[in-house]
Amino acid sequence: MIVLITGVSSSPGYKTAVSLANKHDVIGTYNEHPINIPGVTTVKADLTRDPARLISDYKPDVVIHMAAIGNVDQCEEQLELCYRVNVLASRELLTAAYRVGSAIYYLSTDYVFDGERGMYTEDDAPRPVNYYGLTKLLAEEITKALGGSIVRVAWIYGAGPGRVNFGKTVVDKLMRGEAVTAIMDQWSSPTLNTIIGEAFVKLLEMRFTGILHVVGPRLSRYEFARAIAKYFGFNEELIKPIKLSDVNYRARRPRIVA
Ligand SMILES: NC(=O)c1ccc[n+]([C@@H]2O[C@H](COP(=O)([O-])OP(=O)(O)OC[C@H]3O[C@@H](n4cnc5c(N)ncnc54)[C@H](OP(=O)(O)O)[C@@H]3O)[C@@H](O)[C@H]2O)c1
Repeated sequence: MIVLITGVSSSPGYKTAVSLANKHDVIGTYNEHPINIPGVTTVKADLTRDPARLISDYKPDVVIHMAAIGNVDQCEEQLELCYRVNVLASRELLTAAYRVGSAIYYLSTDYVFDGERGMYTEDDAPRPVNYYGLTKLLAEEITKALGGSIVRVAWIYGAGPGRVNFGKTVVDKLMRGEAVTAIMDQWSSPTLNTIIGEAFVKLLEMRFTGILHVVGPRLSRYEFARAIAKYFGFNEELIKPIKLSDVNYRARRPRIVA
C-alpha cells in the first residue's frame, strides 16, 4: 500500500515511518526539519500551503496525519498559527484524502480531556482546557466526519528526532549529575515512541476503524522521572518533587488524564 505520513520529523512520525518502511511504500512529510529515513520517500511540505496537492501527487491508500503544532504553550501564544496548522490544514488534507478514498488515521492526544477525573476511555466525552487541546479536538471531529480513525497518545518519550521530550530532558540532566524537578500531582500515561510505530503496523494490518488510546502505564511526572533514573542506574534522589501550581505554564494543563 502507499502510505502517506505527515510529520515524519516528529518523534511519533519518525518511529511510525521506520516501522512501516519495509512493509509499505511510505511517503513522509517534514517542514522545517529535513530528515532521511531508509526506505522512506521524504518530501518537504508546509501543510498550510495546498496540502491537498500531496494527495493528488501520491494518491495514498492510507494517510496517517501527525503533523501539528504540538507545543502546548506555543499554541496558547500563537492562536492563529495553531488554528491554521492543526485545524485548517488538517481539514484540507483529510478532505482531499477522503475524496480519493484513502483510509484516514489522525494522531491525537490525551489533552482533549479536561483532566478532572482521570481514567478516560475512548467513550468519554472530550473537553479540552487549552487551545492546543481544542484544535486537536476540532481535527478529531473533522476526521470523524470523514469516516477516519483517531489514535490518541500521551506524553511521548524516547530517543530519535523531534522536539525535546521530558524523558530525554531527564536523562540529559541526570547524566550531567544535575537535579531534576518533576511534577508530582499531574498524571498521564507516558508513551514510548516505538510503541506508536508498532501500533500503526498492527492497525493497518487489521484495517482498524474507530477511536483507540495507545498509551503506556499511568504515572505522575515525578514517578516517571524516578522510573527513568532507576532504569538507567542514576541516583533517584536527584528527582525533586514539585507541584503543578509551582510551574508557570502559559497554557493550562489537564491534571489527571490517565
Ligand atoms: N509530544 C507529545 O507528548 C504528544 C502527545 C500526544 C500527541 N502528540 C501529537 O504528536 C504529533 C507530533 O507532535 P510533537 O509533540 O512530537 O511535536 P513536534 O516534534 O513539534 O512535531 C510536529 C510535527 O509537525 C510538523 N509540522 C509543524 N508545522 C507544520 C506545517 N506548517 N506544515 C507541515 N508540517 C508541520 C513538524 O515538521 P518540522 O519539524 O519538520 O517543521 C513535525 O514533524 C502531533 O500530532 C501531536 O499533537 C504529541
